[in-house]
Amino acid sequence: MNDINNQFQFVICGTDTNIGKTLISSFFVRGLNSFYWKPIQSGIESETDSQTIERLTKVEKTKIINEAYVFKEPVSPHWAAEIDQTVINFRLLNLPKVDGSLIVETAGGLMVPITRNYLQIDQIKKWNIPVILVCKSGLGTLNHTLLSIEALQKRNIKILGLIINGEKHLDNPKTLTELSSIPIIAEFPFLQQIGSNNLDILWEELNIKNKLISLLN
Ligand SMILES: Nc1ncnc2c1ncn2[C@@H]1O[C@H](COP(=O)(O)OP(=O)(O)OP(=O)(O)O)[C@@H](O)[C@H]1O
Ligand SMILES: [Mg+2]
Repeated sequence: MNDINNQFQFVICGTDTNIGKTLISSFFVRGLNSFYWKPIQSGIESETDSQTIERLTKVEKTKIINEAYVFKEPVSPHWAAEIDQTVINFRLLNLPKVDGSLIVETAGGLMVPITRNYLQIDQIKKWNIPVILVCKSGLGTLNHTLLSIEALQKRNIKILGLIINGEKHLDNPKTLTELSSIPIIAEFPFLQQIGSNNLDILWEELNIKNKLISLLN
């Protein structure tokens, strides 16, 4: 990551599937006017994550980089690939070169298999850029978040910070900080209505850009 030109590159990963990675990615893509890449998309029956990003951020289409793989079934990538009779070519998972900031959204949680002997977290390690870990605010997050942090730290993957997503919790942020020492970038509220307007308001309110810059220094 390099903030000299205000260019950022990081991975948005999460403690689970459906935890808010795409919503938080849209928040960063819009705030930083960055490129977005979802290398592996499993499931096409509703909106793909790239389509959600396009709808929520309204960035130019060229900022949304095509997926390396889009699988039909909404299941773990390794199995979704097998169902579609596709063999993953790891070279297609190399980071794209872009002129600007880049946000990469992972598939599911960290230990999700991409193939039967290669996990999402192995690919994150290979990318060699920092991660932001999205976790939920409520019950269950202490276990899932601390396990995820341990797995990342064991592989020396730099964790920029946590985004705690959902209804504000009275104790979990404090406990996560005490037990992990990982900074909290934001407590991102549950939104009744999701749209570019409230994303912009939150971006300013939560002072995200300055926090990112200070986390790098
Ligand atoms: N803070 C929030 N307020 C309101 N709705 C939310 C919030 N966070 C997530 N959601 C909703 O929860 C659902 C799951 O979120 P999202 O798609 O961002 O998860 P994900 O981690 O990207 O899932 P996947 O693993 O499939 O990529 C979406 O419908 C999203 O709009
Ligand atoms: Mg997603």
